Amino acid sequence: MKTTTEKFGVTPHQPSLWTRADALKVRADDPTTTQPLVSADFPTLNNDVFIWDTMPLRDLDGNVTSVDGWSVIFTLTADRHPNDPQYLDEDGNYDILRDWNDRHGRAKMYYWFSRTGKNWEFGGRVMAEGVSPTAREWAGTPILLNDRGEVDLYYTAVTPGATIVKVRGRVVTTEHGVSMVGFEKVKPLFEADGNMYQTEAQNAFWGFRDPWPFRDPKDGKLYMLFEGNVAGERGSHKVGEAEIGDVPPGYEEVGNSRFQTACVGIAVARDADGDDWEMLPPLLTAVGVNDQTERPHFVFQDGKYYLFTISHTFTYADGVTGPDGVYGFVADSLFGPYVPLNGSGLVLGNPSSQPFQTYSHYVMPNGLVTSFIDSVPTDETGTQIRVGGTEAPTVGMKIKGLQTFVVAEYDYGYIPPMLDVTLK
Ligand code: FRU
Repeated sequence: MKTTTEKFGVTPHQPSLWTRADALKVRADDPTTTQPLVSADFPTLNNDVFIWDTMPLRDLDGNVTSVDGWSVIFTLTADRHPNDPQYLDEDGNYDILRDWNDRHGRAKMYYWFSRTGKNWEFGGRVMAEGVSPTAREWAGTPILLNDRGEVDLYYTAVTPGATIVKVRGRVVTTEHGVSMVGFEKVKPLFEADGNMYQTEAQNAFWGFRDPWPFRDPKDGKLYMLFEGNVAGERGSHKVGEAEIGDVPPGYEEVGNSRFQTACVGIAVARDADGDDWEMLPPLLTAVGVNDQTERPHFVFQDGKYYLFTISHTFTYADGVTGPDGVYGFVADSLFGPYVPLNGSGLVLGNPSSQPFQTYSHYVMPNGLVTSFIDSVPTDETGTQIRVGGTEAPTVGMKIKGLQTFVVAEYDYGYIPPMLDVTLK
């Protein structure tokens, strides 16, 4: 893998490492980094669809933005099939868990709007059927470009392949609601290259998705974060001293951890519009630690770069573990070096009594963290569950130096705007 670059005046950098030693510091159920219990009697946003990854409309600086007083969110969405014979169990009952687990294959981008930053009203699909070039419309970011309401939706076109794409449209408001117009022409931007970022040919379980474009507050250039895996044939990665870190005696054994190769990717735009991109080496790698660092995003605060990314228990490597939730890293400059927040990287994890209660946390610059409800146990043993597919209660978090603290809990799906744009 190339580890340095000098493209477009971008400073050469070495990826920062999330090491096994860092991950050994992860402590589930630390109250300062654990999401409060989600009650099994949560309300459902909409009974016809499942929603999961939530993408608030924002500007290129990361500010969550309303338009003419309307808040807007985009969500990955899939129909629920309570009456489809395919999803009935042998007793003829709806097998909601199977339907939920199948949702990724039919994910589509929908939008919702609200006057209050919660109680979201259904908008509909962003792109008409047939506009997106592949079967799955996976996560990304809607960017409000200007006061004409133009929106660039960056997202991932998946199956076949995985391509970072964008589609331009416009948000239109009335007294009664919001609609999305345009979004008719999808432009492919880039795919994994096999040199810095792993391709499907190198690993059938590769990840390459979740674009998050932003303007660097220091150099003013347009960049994009995304999820990747470190390039190379599956099984060929080395978990050496650097990846292991400073572990206590007896912790040198890494088992099969060479199969876990997540990274946070970064690209720089060659043009002002973000139509032409150059991939750069990853900002952060987790070789030997974890196989997925999904939906990476930044909060720019106190002159620092707070890098957040979501990950799972099941994607951790042999000998290390942690809860499903959001992890974070901080640096003084865009290209690092990044150090794990709270020592370990864990910022907000699920409580061990409800390990799947929420996922896909998105940390906003006001310290609010939104996520979706996956499943919540309804009995003591955790064998009975209630599937969510809806917005979780928002968590309030304080970010201070190298640490974060859970400090508040708000209503379900509470995503208040940080600024309002009056459309011309
Ligand atoms: C996170 C995620 C994203 C992906 C989407 C697919 O929940 O795995 O990385 O884009 O969900 O449904």
